Amino acid sequence: MRFNGEISYRDDEEEEEERENENNLQSYSIGVGFPQPQKLIVGYALTSKKKKSFLQPKLEGLARNKGILFVAIDQKRSLSDQGPFDIVLHKLTGKEWRQILEDYRQTHPEVTVLDPPDAIQHVHNRQSMLQDVADLNLSDCYGTVGVPRQLVITKDPSSIPDAVSKAGLMLPLVAKPLVVDGSAKSHELSLAYDQFSLSKLDPPLVLQEFVNHGGVLFKVYIVGEAIKVVRRFSLPDVDESEVINNPGVFRFPRVSCAAASADDADLDPCVAELPPRPLLERLARELRRRLGLRLFNMDIIREHGTQDRFYVIDINYFPGKIWENARVRAHIYGFSPESGAEQVQEKVC
Ligand SMILES: Nc1ncnc2c1ncn2[C@@H]1O[C@H](COP(=O)(O)OP(=O)(O)O)[C@@H](O)[C@H]1O
Ligand SMILES: [Mg+2]
Repeated sequence: MRFNGEISYRDDEEEEEERENENNLQSYSIGVGFPQPQKLIVGYALTSKKKKSFLQPKLEGLARNKGILFVAIDQKRSLSDQGPFDIVLHKLTGKEWRQILEDYRQTHPEVTVLDPPDAIQHVHNRQSMLQDVADLNLSDCYGTVGVPRQLVITKDPSSIPDAVSKAGLMLPLVAKPLVVDGSAKSHELSLAYDQFSLSKLDPPLVLQEFVNHGGVLFKVYIVGEAIKVVRRFSLPDVDESEVINNPGVFRFPRVSCAAASADDADLDPCVAELPPRPLLERLARELRRRLGLRLFNMDIIREHGTQDRFYVIDINYFPGKIWENARVRAHIYGFSPESGAEQVQEKVC
């Protein structure tokens, strides 16, 4: 079991042990400093789909055992008339909801809103989501973390080939819709192999240099001060001859959703090796502060052929399907009534 502030990178054996414990909820207490369950009320505002994937009966039972109650927020009623809440956990979109939450934050500063709407908005745009990573320009003895070179195109597809050559971007390029709004369309990516086909793309979008990474990416889940990393299969490397011999644009509907776990795969150790923990800890700490988020994940790739050159390619708020993975569920035992930020992690689209 983990406690507030502890960062975990535990091995499979520990996870296995906790999974067994999960089946024996009665054996849990809150832990050192919390010998008696304390009451913590978490008001949640989630879509029915999100509620189904996140708030599974097992989690509710486990939380209850720790004195944590999940209470559905009624969106038709004023937030202030409900509760009182210690935490408001939400993943709804829309201007109106954002305003309701902002007003609530003003009038109820004692309540932890996971997470502030402005901070979430920031990662709904693929340009702004990576800006903090670029500004951070992290480089230490464990490695470097950057973002692939990218260009934002807001209109006029016919101008793209020119804009790309002016910016000096190298092909192939990954084209991603600029705004991520949870729709399937906003996750439809294209891989452009030649400059002229670029004018077939559909702005607004971000054009990002494709970085060969051995077909494996790392999903780094951050919940408060806890970190968890899993491997996923990703797009395979592209070699120069492919770029020359396959002109055109290739569309990928929801690559990330289809990505299977690579945790147990027999991989080249140079590709499979997780990013160094101290590097991730520093990155997570900085991004938590800069983004103002406590519940998010990052997709990170390692440039193939290097040991320590990493790129963040995507950041998501309150990633989906957290609890569907038993290994991940095994990591949830560490709610902190003090900070309101829990220790969770997992898999997402
Ligand atoms: N710059 C890149 N270089 C190499 N592969 C990339 C790059 N950007 C995205 N990908 C591949 O495309 C997938 C989806 O991209 P991502 O930016 O995570 O979008 P999504 O919002 O759909 O998750 C990644 O998981 C990775 O396999
Ligand atoms: Mg992604």
